[in-house]
Amino acid sequence: MAEPQRLLFAVSEAFPLVKTGGLADVAGSLPAVLHRLGVDVRILLPAYGTLLAKLETSKEVARLQLPGGNVALLETHMPDSGVPVWLLEHPAFSGRDGNPYQDASGQPWSDNAERFMLLSQAAAALALGETALDWRADALHCHDWHTAPAIALLAEREERPKTVFTIHNLAHLGLFDRATFERLSLPWAWWSPEAMEFHGQFCFMKGGLAFADWITTVSPTYAREICSAPGGMGLEGLLSHRRQHLVGILNGIDTDIWNPATDPLLAANYDATQLERKALNKRALQDELGLPPRDDLPLFGFVGRLAEQKGIDLLLPVLDELVAARAQLAILGTGEARLEQALGEFAAQHPDAVALRLAYNERLAHRIEAGADVFLMPSLFEPCGLNQMYSLRYGTLPLVRAVGGLADTVTDASEATIAAGTANGFAFTEADSSALRTALDRALLLWRQPAHWMALQQRAMSGDFSWERSAHQYLDLYGFSPES
Ligand code: ADP
Ligand code: GLC
Repeated sequence: MAEPQRLLFAVSEAFPLVKTGGLADVAGSLPAVLHRLGVDVRILLPAYGTLLAKLETSKEVARLQLPGGNVALLETHMPDSGVPVWLLEHPAFSGRDGNPYQDASGQPWSDNAERFMLLSQAAAALALGETALDWRADALHCHDWHTAPAIALLAEREERPKTVFTIHNLAHLGLFDRATFERLSLPWAWWSPEAMEFHGQFCFMKGGLAFADWITTVSPTYAREICSAPGGMGLEGLLSHRRQHLVGILNGIDTDIWNPATDPLLAANYDATQLERKALNKRALQDELGLPPRDDLPLFGFVGRLAEQKGIDLLLPVLDELVAARAQLAILGTGEARLEQALGEFAAQHPDAVALRLAYNERLAHRIEAGADVFLMPSLFEPCGLNQMYSLRYGTLPLVRAVGGLADTVTDASEATIAAGTANGFAFTEADSSALRTALDRALLLWRQPAHWMALQQRAMSGDFSWERSAHQYLDLYGFSPES
């Protein structure tokens, strides 16, 4: 039998070991599927202090001497899938608590350039087999700015693995000043607009965009949006230039973790044939959040980072009307202080209708997905979005702005799509509150028609959001053939 093909998956977060957003969900679930398809996949992650504290076992398997410092490589496995994980141990990662990217006041760690250059150097060394380990990669897959320079490092080598770079979010480019570039002692050729210089700054993300064999992003619509302004965030020229090597591959979801029929975090499990049991989750959520226990009021949920991207600024002006329409709201998130404050003031004025939890809480996220009637995602842009897919699977109809992956997964309930049986949620186009308001009105109207609502829920729950198809697209780009 042929040797399995070897893939190094280099990334800054992976669920359940460390998570701040959807990137971690993807890095937890895609390698698990590739592993099942017979790929010898290894995940490379920084050994953050909080991650090490969670581990039951790990062992040191190598020491690497990298330009950015000497590090130890620990080995462990993903708890559910068993995928091998290499952890890069260095005090810049292990020696501090809290968020992987920023300090407690929300400021980026001052040595982020050094930290993630070290991660990138480790990824390149491991992929090339330049370590004491008897392993080198046939393909290297890097994600977002944190590991992008690894692709640039490989591009300089004649004999090298294939490289695939995935853009999860162009809002974070990994920009640093020239002094930082000089301090890192990097190849001078990198300080050029064709390489990683970007308007007088050093841009980690460009290492992936300029040099990868294949660039992917996480939905077909976002792949189109980033080839022009404003979606391209200033990189639309480079991305259009590389259009022949840019592919939009829709993210899948972990259908074991996000399964309403088996989810252990829910008050009651259910499937599309037992939607009356979903109501038990609504009641449990109302109890837990201190909202009046009312079946006859629609409950709107939101879970996510409170960042400009997520469209909270569109939502704030319509909240009054939602409450006037006697809707309830369950909001879970953390993020920008101004958004936390605006939501906090609104919630304080309407304690009977609005429950706000400014926290990161995996359990409550599941319970909102199951207990709400409608899930709100009015994002200004959304490369893919996972929450709308979780919502669809939980029969909680998503109400989204039709951008990026939201446009690719949610079909607006119009007369035509309802008649055709393809509607699974609500979508609006313009980035303004009145467009959102109209969509909310339509959702409220339909919610009062239970037979129609249930048909939409069943349609939503029948969607296939598993990784299978997308995983095969990645195999093609790696140049791997799936095990027959
Ligand atoms: P993004 O990656 O832009 O944050 P996604 O929709 O792709 O958006 O993924 C967000 C992920 O993070 C989802 O799994 C969501 O449930 C989770 N999440 C975000 N904020 C919170 C929170 N405050 N508590 C629990 N889970 C959260
Ligand atoms: C990013 C995007 C989100 C996407 C996630 C996983 O954080 O904001 O839309 O779902 O990455 O690819």
